[in-house]
Amino acid sequence: MRAAQALRALCISRLPRPVSDIFTSKPTSYLRAPHFQTTPYSTSSPQQKLAADMHPHIKRSTAFKSLDDADINHFKSFLEPSQVITDQSEVQPYNTDWMKKYRGQTVVVLRPKTTEEVQKIVRYCNEKKLAVCPQGGNTGLVGGSVPVFDEVVISLTLMNQVRSLDEVSGAFVADAGLVLETADNYLAERGFIFPLDLGAKGTATIGGNVATNAGGLRLLRYGSLHGTVLGLEVVLPDGTLFSNLSTLRKDNTGYDLKQLFIGAEGTLGIITGVSIMAPRRPNAVNVAVLALDSFELVQESFARAKRDLGEILSAFEFWDQAAAEVVHKYVSHVKNPFMEGDRPAPAFGVLIETSGSVKEHDDEKLSRFLESLMEDSIVTDGVVADSETQAKALWGVRESITEGLSRAGAAYKYDISMPVPKLYSAVEDMRERLASKGFFEQGRVARVVGFGHLGDGNLHLNIGGPQYDKEVAEAIEPYVFQWLKELDGSISAEHGLGLHKAEHLHYSKPDRMISIMKQIKDLFDPNGIMNPYKYLPKS
Ligand code: FAD
Ligand code: MLT
Ligand code: ZN
Repeated sequence: MRAAQALRALCISRLPRPVSDIFTSKPTSYLRAPHFQTTPYSTSSPQQKLAADMHPHIKRSTAFKSLDDADINHFKSFLEPSQVITDQSEVQPYNTDWMKKYRGQTVVVLRPKTTEEVQKIVRYCNEKKLAVCPQGGNTGLVGGSVPVFDEVVISLTLMNQVRSLDEVSGAFVADAGLVLETADNYLAERGFIFPLDLGAKGTATIGGNVATNAGGLRLLRYGSLHGTVLGLEVVLPDGTLFSNLSTLRKDNTGYDLKQLFIGAEGTLGIITGVSIMAPRRPNAVNVAVLALDSFELVQESFARAKRDLGEILSAFEFWDQAAAEVVHKYVSHVKNPFMEGDRPAPAFGVLIETSGSVKEHDDEKLSRFLESLMEDSIVTDGVVADSETQAKALWGVRESITEGLSRAGAAYKYDISMPVPKLYSAVEDMRERLASKGFFEQGRVARVVGFGHLGDGNLHLNIGGPQYDKEVAEAIEPYVFQWLKELDGSISAEHGLGLHKAEHLHYSKPDRMISIMKQIKDLFDPNGIMNPYKYLPKS
């Protein structure tokens, strides 16, 4: 049976009577799991501007030493030749971020294999006042993972071993450079799940995830890393070790210092090991994708999902028509079930995932829920996956939006949070603003896209155009940040601050908090060598 027929048949058989009427779409063969590219994305183009040129107010600190042959020779004295990369063509991917928006100027990349090697590197850099930039999978979206000037890149990707799994408690300990998907596959084989998932899982590392306090697709179910991380091993800026790979669920002894490194984006130290609570992997997972006519209906379906699906609801993601169109046009292996032939994408798409332990129970709950959405005319169409492969394919419609946007050209990315009822007005308001300036007509802006983690009140507002354009950027910023401040929103819900938002932190945090953050930074890193120019405002 063709996959499309299988899906349709499933919908009819699982959702008796009237519900079958809503599943009128005839999806074609879209059931190929999307693959996130695992080789480095970034190779800089000659046209790509240097991050330093894009931020002319940032000057290279004269307090930092410039790297010379003696430094390289020192690194080579305890690292293998393959761990010290100086060939410029090999260095370039580490200088360029995933979006090809930020380009740094490092001349050396160090690839330690052990915590002791990281300590030796950092101790030396601190003594010599060589600035460093920690890097994991280099999938960060705010320019934090690449150097601005000549900071030494310390890549953690060769530190990628699982250290232990306690199969009773689920406490999982691994090197920071372990790729998220590899960690999850390891856990899956043993009946556990990594409590974080995101579209870049094939490349992002768990150390990078912790350093950015990544949110991802199932925060709704498993909570934030501030709750699931049990302990960390961190090389501090002076080369000493913060050794706290605890596997304890409860530990009320003193300040919980590990929390400072979660979301510090490599400004306080280099995470070398992560201990995290891995829950049991749910054995009954359902994924449904629904079509809706308005954002009000998206909200209504979310409120009902929380009420009617309760404890089995594990993800609630949404996207708008512009987001669906970008995937349809630029990510050919992903097929949107509602866009067969020339059919336009619905105004909004929603992906609902349930995760539980008794399939019949979850199926019944989901069926009843979908039936009620249809009866009350909240959704106009929908499909439910019948297998893991189909579930992955449906997830692909959501997870490929970022990839689609980046293939389409330049994307100005804003990762914001605010009360859910206001969330989509950020997109509408921005569309109006850019239209009023004539940017659409002039072909300088192609689209304003909204999608994200509705369950977390987190919108990804993306403005797409053929290339980065200073005037367009100036029409967006600081306007969007001011807009958020007035709504008590956050200028970064999950991607962090990096280079992009360091100077804008004041839109989300009061001066006193920023000054405490600076004191913490000075306490840990008095020489300021750890990922400089980012995260905290200079002024
Ligand atoms: P990098 O990009 O290498 O680094 C990110 C930051 O962490 C930098 O400041 C770097 O200096 C620091 N860092 C990295 N490793 C360490 C370490 N070991 N110790 C100290 N500091 C370190 N983010 C989300 O939150 N939710 C999403 O749903 C999501 N989806 C994404 C989908 C796509 C397609 C892409 C490209 C990105 C997505 N991201 C998402 C952003 C990104 O993947 C995450 O921020 C991720 O956690 C970064 O991990 P990384 O290993 O690539 O870190
Ligand atoms: C996502 O949720 O897909 C990510 O955070 C990536 C993005 O915002 O582009
Ligand atoms: Zn996200």
